[in-house]
Amino acid sequence: MPFELSADAQKRINEEIIPRYPRKKSAILPILWEIQEEHGYISREGMLYTAEILELPPAHVFGVLTFYTMYEQEPIGKFHLQVCRTASCEIMGCKAISQKIRDKIGIESGQTSEDRLFTFTEVECLASCEIAPMMQVNKDNYGPLTPEIVDVMLDELRDHGEAKAAQRCL
Ligand code: FES
Repeated sequence: MPFELSADAQKRINEEIIPRYPRKKSAILPILWEIQEEHGYISREGMLYTAEILELPPAHVFGVLTFYTMYEQEPIGKFHLQVCRTASCEIMGCKAISQKIRDKIGIESGQTSEDRLFTFTEVECLASCEIAPMMQVNKDNYGPLTPEIVDVMLDELRDHGEAKAAQRCL
């Protein structure tokens, strides 16, 4: 399948992102991000496109893509629930948050619900330790959470497309 990217994204890549760096290959992370913003993940074609415009071996781009957990290599659900499992969040009860998601949605970390509404991932510190235990939903951080709050949040996301039960921290 040919890789397609909007004219706006191509313009940003060619006129803003690549010229920002003294060496072309240094633009790899923001270009992958640009692709993910538009497609929701980085397909094989997206990876090859990045390699081509940066004049890099595809293996180099693949290495970067698989090193950083922020890049998705498969389509994910509408709401990406990323629960922090690092020290501060663990002490404050993140295991109960993850368990609530498992129980309510029926998926394990790394899985997407059948209706493609939720993807659940346990991740390392998201630099919001002050609101532990916390969870990121797409780009927004929520916390401190309890299983009861998460229970309501999941209903809100499913029914209304946004979560109001928990405090959102910018
Ligand atoms: S330990 Fe969870 S956000 Fe830092």
